[in-house]
Amino acid sequence: MTARILDGNALSAKLRGELAGQAAELAARGVPPGLAVILVGDNPASAVYVRNKVAACEKAGIRSLKFDYPQDAEPAAVLARIAALNDDPAVHGILVQLPLPPQFDEKQVLEAISVGKDVDGFHAENVGRLSQGQPAFFPCTPHGVMKMLEYGDIPVSGADAVVVGRSNIVGKPMAMLLTQAGATVTVCHSKTRDLAAHTRRADILVVAIGRALAIGAEMVKPGATVIDVGMNRFPDGHPKAGKLCGDVDFEAAREVAGAITPVPGGVGPMTITMLLANTIESARRAAEGRR
Ligand code: GUN
Repeated sequence: MTARILDGNALSAKLRGELAGQAAELAARGVPPGLAVILVGDNPASAVYVRNKVAACEKAGIRSLKFDYPQDAEPAAVLARIAALNDDPAVHGILVQLPLPPQFDEKQVLEAISVGKDVDGFHAENVGRLSQGQPAFFPCTPHGVMKMLEYGDIPVSGADAVVVGRSNIVGKPMAMLLTQAGATVTVCHSKTRDLAAHTRRADILVVAIGRALAIGAEMVKPGATVIDVGMNRFPDGHPKAGKLCGDVDFEAAREVAGAITPVPGGVGPMTITMLLANTIESARRAAEGRR
């Protein structure tokens, strides 16, 4: 069997078209959605992510404000900027790109963002709300994965789901969203004793470990849905050395899986799409006086 491809570019194009319509409606009501993006330091991957986020905002009709700080920036300067943005009614979302340079206390920075403008869903209060099944801003990557499952007609309720990776950005919130949707969830990580024994049981396998080609076809249950959150490069010596690849050996796994996300063009664009969705939701709350 060759797996059905879950196309994140196509789904993003559809959803971003709808979001652009919503942004235009809000602008017509006098509340043009606005997102502030803070980039600290010279991490080249972060610079690319931020550029893509800002470009996607512009295209969807979301006003974006970008603030750049050098690698040796004073945390107090960034915290003061966040405080000003919290008080700015034209700003509906605030995003601080991670990772931050070592002089920063990441938790302190994330907690400084107003809960109602935390469109990344990283503030402890939004994480707590998610864990309790209350309305919240959900972290964009796992939220995007849930949309891919929904639009891909992948049944989640009752499914055995295995999440590989336990980060605050992807693995943990992914497990919570899948649990909320009725899956039976196992979270695997670097200390897991027999990873393949777990992954081979998964109806839905979400992989977010950040290592190229870590999941081979023999680790996938026939017919499973495989979601690859990884963004790596094929290693030296590989015929595709230097090109983008995920955490899953796509060419091998697609022969076993029932549905699979490609890299690039899978989860990546959905992360940005959900950032736009969260920003527009925040602007809608402001327009309706619900903030
Ligand atoms: N770094 C890696 N992923 C993300 C993300 O989704 N949001 C932010 N702010 N930083 C990240």
